[in-house]
Amino acid sequence: MVVTKVFRVDPAKPSVDAVRYAARVIRDGGLVAFPTETVYGLGANAFNAKAVERIYVAKGRPLDNPIIVHICDFSQLELVASRIPEDAYRLAERLWPGPLTLLLPRDPRIPYVVTAGLETVAVRMPAHPVALELIREANVPVAAPSANLSGKPSPTRGDHVVEDLYSRVEVILDAGETLYGVESTIINLLSDPPMLLRPGAYTVEDIERILGRSIEVPEFARGLGEAEKALAPGMKHRHYAPNTPLILVEAEDYGELQRLLDATRRAVLDYKMRGFKVAVISYAETYKHYEGIADSVLVVGSRGNIYEVARNLFATLRTLDKLNVDVAIMEGVEDKGLGLAVMNRVRKASTSRVKA
Ligand code: TXA
Ligand code: MG
Repeated sequence: MVVTKVFRVDPAKPSVDAVRYAARVIRDGGLVAFPTETVYGLGANAFNAKAVERIYVAKGRPLDNPIIVHICDFSQLELVASRIPEDAYRLAERLWPGPLTLLLPRDPRIPYVVTAGLETVAVRMPAHPVALELIREANVPVAAPSANLSGKPSPTRGDHVVEDLYSRVEVILDAGETLYGVESTIINLLSDPPMLLRPGAYTVEDIERILGRSIEVPEFARGLGEAEKALAPGMKHRHYAPNTPLILVEAEDYGELQRLLDATRRAVLDYKMRGFKVAVISYAETYKHYEGIADSVLVVGSRGNIYEVARNLFATLRTLDKLNVDVAIMEGVEDKGLGLAVMNRVRKASTSRVKA
């Protein structure tokens, strides 16, 4: 048991006192949950192996899943990584601070507990005033995975963090809702061509435009198949999952939406006839389709606004578990642009998938 202090902070103008207090906790080897523009992170001093070990314990995280190091400026980049390729600067100069994580050669100052024994380190500069202030005040790079219990949906609001980590961490900085709602895009620049390890808030198209060449998008980055350990160790663990079994209905062609809706409705009816309580995760344009047949209908956003869907996704999965239904059925979206990040999360969260 740890005594947890929760501070409400203004995301645009965080109180100096709260951030200073939190920064001191980081310097003293403690754990601080803080907002970023993607999801909340659970931070510790990246140079302090004992502090980072505590992150794994607090989250119940498997020890073979490495942690992203967060920096606040380019001078810190050279403290945590070495032999940084040109392409890294090309991307970082355009997209940092922002939801981009780069896999780079590890500097020996970064302990192996951060990288789970790998010679690479994942680095990002987050675009959130509270995160940047915290790292600047702590004056050390901050190792931080998402601030959820391992396996749970990532936290996009302060109360999600309180739900998962209260009495496990020293400080929670609550700045309300995060902006993107899905995690950063992870790129491995050490392979040729560069490889997408996790789709995220910046799209593949954004990154290819800046690099001026294609990047490889392996099956596991789509949320399909299994990642090989050396490529993306975290990808092999079950993720983002609600306790409620989740069935994802995917379309061959999202231009023919009616087929998807009919297949989803059939799945609902099938479970209802077998006596289950059923929820549907749907959209502003389509939720009416299930009224009267499903026990609950959750609207995750509008099909016309994939940013809204991404922002609400994890909160919707957490709400699902409060409904006390036996099973949930979700309509998929096309895995293009930001939809690729959404579908990666939903495929990993699902217990089974059906094609419409
Ligand atoms: O947006 C984000 O990236 C959020 C916020 C808090 O910054 N962080 C986040 O961390 O999503 P986490 O730990 O939930 O996901 C990090 C992923 C894991 O799948 C991990 O396996 C991978 O990054 N990763 C970290 N270091 C790696 C490395 N050296 N090689 C391969 N994959 C790595
Ligand atoms: Mg995570």
